[in-house]
Amino acid sequence: MSNRYRVVVAGLGKRGMHHATAFQANDRFEVSGVCDIDEARVDAAAARLGGPAKSTDARELAVALRPDVFCFCTLPNLRAEMVRIGIESGARIIAMEKPVALTSAEGFKIRKMLEAGGVKAVVSHQHRYGEHYRKAQEAISSGVLGRIHTVYGTSTGWMMHMLSHLIDYMRWFNGESPAEWVMAQAAGRGKLSDAHPSPDYIAGFIQFANGVRGVVECGAGAPDVPEVDYWWRKCRIGAQGSEGFAEVLTGGGWRVVSNTLSCSGGGSMNYDLDMPPYIQQIADWLDDPQQVHPCNFASSWAGFEIMMACCRSAAQGGQIELPLESGADELEMLRSALPERRVLLSMAMNAKEYPA
Ligand SMILES: NC(=O)c1ccc[n+]([C@@H]2O[C@H](COP(=O)([O-])OP(=O)(O)OC[C@H]3O[C@@H](n4cnc5c(N)ncnc54)[C@H](O)[C@@H]3O)[C@@H](O)[C@H]2O)c1
Repeated sequence: MSNRYRVVVAGLGKRGMHHATAFQANDRFEVSGVCDIDEARVDAAAARLGGPAKSTDARELAVALRPDVFCFCTLPNLRAEMVRIGIESGARIIAMEKPVALTSAEGFKIRKMLEAGGVKAVVSHQHRYGEHYRKAQEAISSGVLGRIHTVYGTSTGWMMHMLSHLIDYMRWFNGESPAEWVMAQAAGRGKLSDAHPSPDYIAGFIQFANGVRGVVECGAGAPDVPEVDYWWRKCRIGAQGSEGFAEVLTGGGWRVVSNTLSCSGGGSMNYDLDMPPYIQQIADWLDDPQQVHPCNFASSWAGFEIMMACCRSAAQGGQIELPLESGADELEMLRSALPERRVLLSMAMNAKEYPA
């Protein structure tokens, strides 16, 4: 076996620690450096990870250590700068969190940097490793549902948190067919000033090249998933075919109902179970360029374009053709276009996150 791949992790909040501990637990990796602007977090992380190098300056640390993997898990306001640091550090893979960026302008900048630097990237849509997600996907790809005509996803959590996930799994359920156009609507300005800036509610239609229709809803007006108690896991993602449907609930298992088969099972999104295989496939991709990571940047980019096209359509009206040809500031478009009217809720429980 080859030597361990060396990893630097920047941003040691919730997700940074998930990544750092999962890298450290995998014998193909060692965390050689950790960084956060919060010194107490750096010290606590270094103590938990067996004493790697530490810093409050990501560039200084990464450029000095020259890791194989540069992982950053900062809030979405920090993306292009971290990708640049990863490239400057000489890393072969940059492991980053969703969303790819806050605007397509920044997204295009990131994509260009990665292409110019010849650096791979993965984006953490790790729910897909959940057994319940896999059961739904297996049923959909097995043909038991007949001809798939619709994929769908809903979440009561807001766009910059959740839409990237929903679209990624809808695309996976649809065999990663490219999207041709999108049309969407949005409402509510409350979350535009959140750290995950978003309209309070966005809903859209996606035309996929294979003729399948995508229907997605995210935020205050999205329907309840009454089978699930935990608010953040009230997500329903599935596919309908000519002979049945299959779906996963992020916090409530899976089910398949078709002309010939009816079955269901449990499962709830679990970082402890989802992170190890996600991390292992980073090692596999480093070992062998043919073993492309399922959460590779190109795949996430296709989902990111759909999300940005939804924002453009909601702000400007009409259909938005894909792929996007150039970058724009979709958040600014939404800030200018969204009416002042308060968002209307799908259920009383949403009032906590979307107050009047
Ligand atoms: N994939 C998932 O399931 C999932 C779940 C939750 C959050 N996320 C995403 O993960 C990202 C991080 O979320 P979080 O909840 O871990 O946030 P967090 O606020 O807990 O952590 C972010 C950390 O980044 C640090 N930081 C800020 N600027 C920095 C800099 N210049 N250099 C180094 N560190 C810096 C902060 O001090 C903080 O410790 C977000 O994009 C979020 O959307 C993904």
